[in-house]
Amino acid sequence: MNTVCITGASRGLGLALVEAFLLKTEYNVLAISRAKEISALRVRLDEYPERLTCVSVDISKSEGRNKLFDEVKEFGKVSILVHNAGALLYKPFLEIDEIELEEIYRVNVFSPFLLTQKLFPLFENAHVINISSIGGVEGSLKFPCLSAYSSSKAALNCLTEMWAEEFKSSPHTFNCLALGSVQTEMFERAFPGIDASSSPEEMANYIVNFALDAPKVMRGKIIPLSKQNP
Ligand SMILES: NC(=O)c1ccc[n+]([C@@H]2O[C@H](COP(=O)([O-])OP(=O)(O)OC[C@H]3O[C@@H](n4cnc5c(N)ncnc54)[C@H](OP(=O)(O)O)[C@@H]3O)[C@@H](O)[C@H]2O)c1
Repeated sequence: MNTVCITGASRGLGLALVEAFLLKTEYNVLAISRAKEISALRVRLDEYPERLTCVSVDISKSEGRNKLFDEVKEFGKVSILVHNAGALLYKPFLEIDEIELEEIYRVNVFSPFLLTQKLFPLFENAHVINISSIGGVEGSLKFPCLSAYSSSKAALNCLTEMWAEEFKSSPHTFNCLALGSVQTEMFERAFPGIDASSSPEEMANYIVNFALDAPKVMRGKIIPLSKQNP
């Protein structure tokens, strides 16, 4: 059976994506997160135990990625991989230290880079989707205190185009969705008191359809998805 892997599945958009893939497709869903137990998910999705597997690993560490590879292998092949896990740092540029900068890049850039390398042998006509930010798109409106975060998302955008070029003769598709605002914990930390333009469920529904349909019409694209910014 087709398998979809979703990182950052413990809350926010990742949690909504797991739910939407279970409700709208017949795919096996691997929900990946550092959280020991994705309790909200388990409670909400009790009726799908046979198609839902929760994997508790830290994808920013090589042992986490190795453990994940072993789990994914049990399912055979990966049809869809959503690099959704992301870390935010909201801090003035001059106050960001090296450790904080490295952590943001480890989660937002190195993890999708290295996880794609690791899982590549298990891809079968795979669609890999990077969840990025409109803030990482050239020429978009920028905000102070997001230099580490937004520049890491710009790197992720470019990585999408690099994969599409390097694997253009493969059956795999690489695309990137550069989100505007979605009402999650991360958004509330970055823009307290502001209402986001989309709910996690609305965005997740869009992404499921995109995951299934986009490979027929596009490859290596960075698509801005925003009604307002922020
Ligand atoms: N919300 C927005 O408005 C918005 C806008 C643009 C882009 N995005 C992007 O959308 C994605 C989802 O964001 P969100 O708003 O849903 O954020 P969120 O509520 O903060 O959730 C982030 C997820 O990433 C996971 N994560 C972080 N570090 C991890 C690690 N080292 N290993 C494994 N998982 C890790 C977290 O799980 P654990 O802590 O359990 O590991 C969590 O499930 C992110 O890539 C974000 O940058 C969001």
